[in-house]
Amino acid sequence: MKHKILQKIPTECPWRDTLYWYEATNSTNDLAKGFAKEGAAHGTVILAGTQTGGRGRMGRSFLSPEGGLYLSVILRPKCPATELMHLTCATGVATSDAVEQIADFRPGIKWINDLVWSGKKLGGILTELSLDAKTGLVDYAVIGIGINCREPEGGFPSDIADIAVSLSGAAGKDIDPAAAAAALITALWKMDMQLLSGKKALMDTYRSLCVTLGKQILVLRGSDKRPGKALDVNDDGGLVVEYGDGYIATVSSGEVSVRGMWDYV
Ligand code: BTN
Repeated sequence: MKHKILQKIPTECPWRDTLYWYEATNSTNDLAKGFAKEGAAHGTVILAGTQTGGRGRMGRSFLSPEGGLYLSVILRPKCPATELMHLTCATGVATSDAVEQIADFRPGIKWINDLVWSGKKLGGILTELSLDAKTGLVDYAVIGIGINCREPEGGFPSDIADIAVSLSGAAGKDIDPAAAAAALITALWKMDMQLLSGKKALMDTYRSLCVTLGKQILVLRGSDKRPGKALDVNDDGGLVVEYGDGYIATVSSGEVSVRGMWDYV
């Protein structure tokens, strides 16, 4: 698998030299964080065919059967964390670019980190940061992406069957997981090159892909559910919401998640 992926990544991409493939692991994000603590380089890529302990945002688990693509990349941008607030959004844009390239359709993004197509979830993103205690700068960031390439044997489990879709299902054709992995790594490498200098452009693209905008949503904070309308996403990835009483506030992905008022999106 590693060989097939490498064949499809441009030779000038330096990330080719630090790519690791595992048939199965607990979580590629956990592996990446372990590697990063031991000094792994910027652009180290970890891929797995299946995960036994895949993790999502807000402490949720992320089901990771065979047939999916599970990938984490270590980044080491030497900047304060405040300059990386848009990292999940930028990763979403790169992931949408990669899907468009290999599957011929452009998925939208449900704020903040879900790749969606026709109201269903194609995949998700989990970014994690670690700071250098001495400098206060980012020591490393791990961007983790999970995408359903094809449906698992016997279909998606019943609890997510209504809201999950695969690349092959959406594209109506077989998708080669090695080609998908290579397209994703290449798109992330390109995204990384403009991560700090091209923030505004990345965020403009994010806003154009964000299917949450303009929708009536529920803002979920612990057990609290508050209805509102999603007005905008700011350049730090914060969601601007107008609540029923006219009050407008910006919520961050660290505090809340959202869902459609009537559906998942
Ligand atoms: C979400 O849906 O909330 C985000 C899911 C992110 C899943 C990916 S799969 C690769 C990486 N390893 C993990 O344990 N999680 C991320």
